[in-house]
Amino acid sequence: MHMRRKPWARPELAACGYYREEPAQLRGRWGDEFARRQPLQVELGCGKGVSTARMALENPGVNFVAVDVGRDVLGCARRNAQAAYGDAPVDNLILAALNVEQIGQYFAAQDAVERIYISFCNPWTLKKRHEKRRLTHPRQLWQYRSFLMDGGELHFKTDDDALFDDTLGYLSSCGFEVRYLTRDMHRSGYAPNYESEHELKYAAQGVPVKFLIAVKRPDALLPAGRLVRVAAAVIENARGEVLLCRRGPGGDCADRWEFPGGKLEPGEDAQACARREVLEELGVRIRPMQTLGETVYAYPARAVSLTFVRAALEEGGPLELREHAQMAWVRPRALTDYALCPADVQMARALAARDAP
Ligand SMILES: C[S@@+](CC[C@H](N)C(=O)[O-])C[C@H]1O[C@@H](n2cnc3c(N)ncnc32)[C@H](O)[C@@H]1O
Repeated sequence: MHMRRKPWARPELAACGYYREEPAQLRGRWGDEFARRQPLQVELGCGKGVSTARMALENPGVNFVAVDVGRDVLGCARRNAQAAYGDAPVDNLILAALNVEQIGQYFAAQDAVERIYISFCNPWTLKKRHEKRRLTHPRQLWQYRSFLMDGGELHFKTDDDALFDDTLGYLSSCGFEVRYLTRDMHRSGYAPNYESEHELKYAAQGVPVKFLIAVKRPDALLPAGRLVRVAAAVIENARGEVLLCRRGPGGDCADRWEFPGGKLEPGEDAQACARREVLEELGVRIRPMQTLGETVYAYPARAVSLTFVRAALEEGGPLELREHAQMAWVRPRALTDYALCPADVQMARALAARDAP
């Protein structure tokens, strides 16, 4: 369904106190944005926010972030929220423009999200290669795992049978357990149900709405090999340059540049892993200083969780290329000029942004 352009949407959003445009800087500190510290729930692809406005108004003890990639629909969501709240302050709802396919750049484990809502996301059923854009595809589910609390819930509604059935498979492969399921929401008696714009449309046409609640099982309970934990060292020298190493030919990411590091061993944390890996790969000891954040890079069958550790060289000794083909000390702002492994790009961009000339 194509929506007519809404020229008023962007100016109204720009003037709105509870709207955030591309809010990457709020990652890990969403709680500070609200009037009250209370549980956080996130709605993905909220559209015109018909259900969002009612849900937020009727649950003042919960903070909600409703996101969508479309500014025009977010403009409608703002109007719907305003209409629902009337003169009362909208202090437990934030509308945010972002692409859910990169949601890991906007939310972190520290945000402790307790519930995610996805209602009537685009089914992408026409071409197999488009499946990965579904908001319930493993590529996205692995990212949700990175900021959803253990035991946190995913609430998913759709009219589309194929999407619903495929989603059941995606969920089990990514460590979610389905706790509630109905193939006819409106006859199920489930309450409270906040009906979205699309739900009202399908219900009026007599199309049964499929609904499920899935719970995130802890990482430790994931099937072996599904989540590979990796640490990478962002090593800085006295001139403020950062070390990049280039992989040799063959294997994943052949000839690309990366921050040195590797897989965590059982019982090891990211800092200890970075220390061990750098000693093995480059023959020098590092002093870990800070854990910079975690990126989840997802493939359909498994995911790589990459934790970056800021570190300094403990001893000046010469670095040896024991596993890599080449190394370079690089000014942070120049990191993105290198052909990087995809999982390192986000961290390189963040470091480059902090090193503006
Ligand atoms: C079919 S509408 C459903 C809207 C609403 N949830 C409902 O049930 O009425 C799907 C919404 O998801 C949004 N969307 C699709 N892909 C997205 C993405 N990658 N990131 C953010 N929003 C997305 C679209 O802009 C659209 O507003």
